[in-house]
Amino acid sequence: MINFDDELDKGQESYNQAVGQWWLGQADDRSHAIAYKKIAKEIRRFCKHEPETILDFACGGGQLLAELAKLFPKSKFIGVDGSHKMLAKAKERVPQATFIETYLPDFKLKQKADLVIFCFPNIAPGEDCQGFYNKHGYMHPQDAKVAKYLSEAKDPEEEDTEDPEELYDDLLTDKVISRNLRQLSKPGGICVRVTYSNAKREELSKLGQMRTNFEEGCLSLPVDGAKAEQLFSFEESVYKPSKVILDVYHQTEDEDDKTGGYFISFLRAV
Ligand SMILES: C[S@@+](CC[C@H](N)C(=O)[O-])C[C@H]1O[C@@H](n2cnc3c(N)ncnc32)[C@H](O)[C@@H]1O
Repeated sequence: MINFDDELDKGQESYNQAVGQWWLGQADDRSHAIAYKKIAKEIRRFCKHEPETILDFACGGGQLLAELAKLFPKSKFIGVDGSHKMLAKAKERVPQATFIETYLPDFKLKQKADLVIFCFPNIAPGEDCQGFYNKHGYMHPQDAKVAKYLSEAKDPEEEDTEDPEELYDDLLTDKVISRNLRQLSKPGGICVRVTYSNAKREELSKLGQMRTNFEEGCLSLPVDGAKAEQLFSFEESVYKPSKVILDVYHQTEDEDDKTGGYFISFLRAV
C-alpha cells in the first residue's frame, strides 16, 4: 500500500521511489498499452502534417513517444521528465529521442515544439514550491479573480462539492503548468492533453467545463467581470472508456473512480 499524499509531497523524486515502481507496473499493463496506441492514432488523425518537433511533457517511461515514433517517422522527439528512473526506461524504448531530466514546470527550457503532449498528468509539485509557482503566474490578478469565482461557485449539476480552497489552489497550480506548455509550443502549434475522466468532456457540468478550460488556459469568455489569460484555443475532444481510470482509483480509493476512461483534448497555441 502506498500513501500517495505523503509520497507525492516528495516532488519529482517520488517517481524514483515507491510511486515510480507503482507507475512502471501500471503503464506497462494491457489497458495502458491499448490507450497509448489509441492516443497516438488520434494524434496522427488530427495532425494534417508530420510535426517537425514533438515534445512530451512529463513523458514517463516513453510508451506514448514510442507509439508516436511509429506514426511520425520523420519527426524529432523530445521527452522531458523529472525522474531518472522513468527516463532510463524511456531512453531504452525510444533511443532516437532527446531526453531532458528536470523539475517541471521548467520555464528555463528553450525548446519550441509544433506538438506538445501532456498525457495522464500527475505533476508532484513538492513541498516549499509556492514561491516558485507565485513567480510564474499563480498570482496573476485576473486569473486569481476568475479562479476565486470558479472555486466558490456552487455546481447545481454536482452532488459532491469540493473544498473551495483546495480547488482554488488546484486551478491556479494547473494554470501555471499550462503556461509552461504554452511557452514550449510554437505559435499556432498543437497541444494535446490526455485527461483521466469519468465522462466525455462535453458531458461535464457547465461549471466543470469552465474549470477545465481555465486550467488549460483556453477559457475565452469573461467570468464575473474578469478575463483569464488565454494561452490556447480549444479545438476538439475525444473520449475513450478505459481501465486506465484505475490509476486514479488507486490514489483516491473513491468507488466512482473505478469506471471511466480518459479524454484527449486538442488545443491550439494562441
Ligand atoms: C502518471 S506519470 C505519466 C507519464 C507519461 N506522461 C505517460 O502517460 O505515460 C507522471 C509523470 O510525471 C513526472 N513528474 C511528476 N511530477 C514531476 C515534477 N514535479 N517534475 C518533473 N516530472 C514530474 C513523473 O516522473 C512521471 O513520469
